[in-house]
Amino acid sequence: MSEIAIQATEVSKRFRIYHERNQSIKAMVLRRRRGVYEEFWALKDISLEIPKASTYGLIGENGSGKSTLLKCFAKILVPDGGSVSSKGSISALLELGAGFHPELSGRENVFLNGAILGISSAELNRKFDEIVDFSGIERFIDTPVKNYSSGMYVRLGFSVAINVSPDILLVDEVLAVGDAEFQQRCANKFQELKSSGCTIVVVSHAMEMIKNLCDHAAWMEHGQLKAHGEAQDIIEMYLRQVAHNTGEPYVEPKPEPEPEHIAP
Ligand SMILES: Nc1ncnc2c1ncn2[C@@H]1O[C@H](COP(=O)(O)OP(=O)(O)OP(=O)(O)O)[C@@H](O)[C@H]1O
Ligand SMILES: [Mg+2]
Repeated sequence: MSEIAIQATEVSKRFRIYHERNQSIKAMVLRRRRGVYEEFWALKDISLEIPKASTYGLIGENGSGKSTLLKCFAKILVPDGGSVSSKGSISALLELGAGFHPELSGRENVFLNGAILGISSAELNRKFDEIVDFSGIERFIDTPVKNYSSGMYVRLGFSVAINVSPDILLVDEVLAVGDAEFQQRCANKFQELKSSGCTIVVVSHAMEMIKNLCDHAAWMEHGQLKAHGEAQDIIEMYLRQVAHNTGEPYVEPKPEPEPEHIAP
């Protein structure tokens, strides 16, 4: 039996949806209550095993609970029911700019981000050039990150996350804002990490990317696990359902057409 990197057992997470939220303490005192809300389950009884050294895709419609589950894996959120256990160090790239301080430079943020990931400054000093090299933004490394473009944020965040040699790498949608060249480089890096035994969990709506990268996938729907198994099968099931819901016939994705004109 293969080793398990992450084990989720009946994980449930509850959030509040506010219908009438107090904007001030005065409003709270006048209303004599904290606001009107209902509770809903963003995750309900998710049981999933992520095998060690696998590349695992999480797919599903907007709001189905993918990011919430990833945050439970990363221990950023604590489940209201069930449990998550994992083996090894975890590095995560969950939101654009998460862990970055806007007023600090890219250089300072590499150290801040590294410290959040539990890396010593000696190790970061050793890896700094590699991190900046991979990000491709050395020219802007001393610029405050508040002036970075979305792609620059993700380049730097991803470079830190992968260069700390994690046992488990969790990546949410964010990579999509990187340009084609960076995405290709990330894809190569994923393969490299995979062959070195790193477990990778990716959330994405880019089905081609998931198909190329992942061996396993789980399909989330309304906070529940709809299906999980081999990535190819799960993606096909998901796309069939999307086609069914939109009334379109399901067609196999076609290869890219030839361009009509390329600037010299
Ligand atoms: N901190 C929070 N407080 C309240 N509700 C939340 C919170 N975080 C997530 N939710 C809700 O939980 C549900 C699941 O959100 P989640 O971000 O996990 O979806 P997702 O599958 O990642 O969607 P997307 O594809 O749009 O990124 C949504 O209804 C969302 O509004
Ligand atoms: Mg999400």
